[in-house]
Amino acid sequence: RTIQWYPGHMAKAKKQVQTNLRLVDIIFEIVDARVPLASRNPVLDQIIQQKPRLVILNKADLADPAVNQAWVQYFQQQQLPAIAIDSQHHQRLKVIEQQAQQILAPKIARQQAKGVKNSTIRAMCIGIPNVGKSTILNRLVRKNVAQTGNHPGVTKKPQWLKAGKQLELLDTPGILWPKFEDQLVGKKLALTGAIKDSLFYADDVALYALDFFTQHYPNRLQERYHLSAADLALATPDLLMKLTTALGMKEDYDRASERLLFDCRKGKLGRYTLDQIGEAKTDD
Ligand code: G4P
Repeated sequence: RTIQWYPGHMAKAKKQVQTNLRLVDIIFEIVDARVPLASRNPVLDQIIQQKPRLVILNKADLADPAVNQAWVQYFQQQQLPAIAIDSQHHQRLKVIEQQAQQILAPKIARQQAKGVKNSTIRAMCIGIPNVGKSTILNRLVRKNVAQTGNHPGVTKKPQWLKAGKQLELLDTPGILWPKFEDQLVGKKLALTGAIKDSLFYADDVALYALDFFTQHYPNRLQERYHLSAADLALATPDLLMKLTTALGMKEDYDRASERLLFDCRKGKLGRYTLDQIGEAKTDD
């Protein structure tokens, strides 16, 4: 399911989004609530320009509940309406249509003034792979219609799916590339599972994860892997060695790294948000 992004590939994906952009009233920019900045496409602003947009922080169930709202506010301060949802468990999906109606209220009012009674809002989901575009689409449409396929650049006739009383969704989400040129962003994406394999070594990502959890949620590391406070004070490579031993994996650091990544992706270390609000200014 991992896409290798090549320049030609990226150009095609961008073009497809640009073509479909003309068909919709509003864009749903889907990001992962654990990495609300890292999981954004770097040129989305440039691609969609002034088109109305709702930023949807999906997978809010996996992100730190204490900061979800702060991130929503961060986007709102950038004049980008935003909401946090959990599409997997159907949490707060209704808010999507309500927000879209609110954002497009002036346009709807103009149409009503012209005599249009039930104006339909047309929208499309856009985002990098694995943020949950297909899940949101499927949940809103309530049928398994969306192809989860990650095939940017594959063109077919767009179809509209009824996704609410006055909301229609384009059946194909726009798939754009992540910010892979930045190492730290790459590790964050790898840790959350947006980048699934081979672009990173598991131990590199594991070292990042150990640093992050030691700093932000030390108790969880201690509890899950039976580590002591003294272990957490070790230099990170030494901590990885400790962890490997604690997992009974002798000196197989790769396997221990992979276990740690698996646990982080599956939420076994609790809910966390890798992007810090404080990073936002330099990051974005
Ligand atoms: P995409 O179209 O943007 O590529 O993403 P997709 O909907 O395929 O979702 C990617 C994975 O994320 C899926 O898991 C999906 O179930 C999960 N997911 C989507 N939305 C949410 C959410 O709000 N909360 C949680 N917890 N998970 C969500 P998968 O197919 O099992 O893949 P993976 O877990 O192996 O990555």
